[in-house]
Amino acid sequence: MRASAGSETAERLREAAAGAMARAYAPYSDFRVGAALLSIDGTVIAGCNVENSSFPAGVCAERGALAAAVVAGHRHFTQLVIVTDAEEPTSPCGMCRQALVEFGPNLQVASYTTSGAEARWSLADLLPQPFTPKSLRHT
Ligand code: THU
Repeated sequence: MRASAGSETAERLREAAAGAMARAYAPYSDFRVGAALLSIDGTVIAGCNVENSSFPAGVCAERGALAAAVVAGHRHFTQLVIVTDAEEPTSPCGMCRQALVEFGPNLQVASYTTSGAEARWSLADLLPQPFTPKSLRHT
């Protein structure tokens, strides 16, 4: 299913991501990111980037959404929407791609800018040949 499928759901995801972006804590980069995941039961869970004065302690919006979703009992996701005010739609960073593939190997990703540009990818295209739970199997 494409990320655009179901306009009502797509709108809910986009609004949740935009709302999360408005709450981002990004005083160091001044780059606010909102993300919203769609659980297979239809629940939308949002996250924003949360930076820290000890820079590596900051967390991306996508992994914030993932953590919030898992603690709420969701482990299977079909869509991710990202909103930023960047010039071009941004894709999830490498660490977030790896975090996401664990719970959404078939995830469809849509990214919007606040000025209306959009881009879509599958996570499989963004992270080919992923390391997954199966990769840990050994003799
Ligand atoms: N950031 C995200 O939230 N998601 C990404 O996929 C890329 C980067 C955040 C991290 C940091 O707070 C800011 O954007 C600048 O890198």
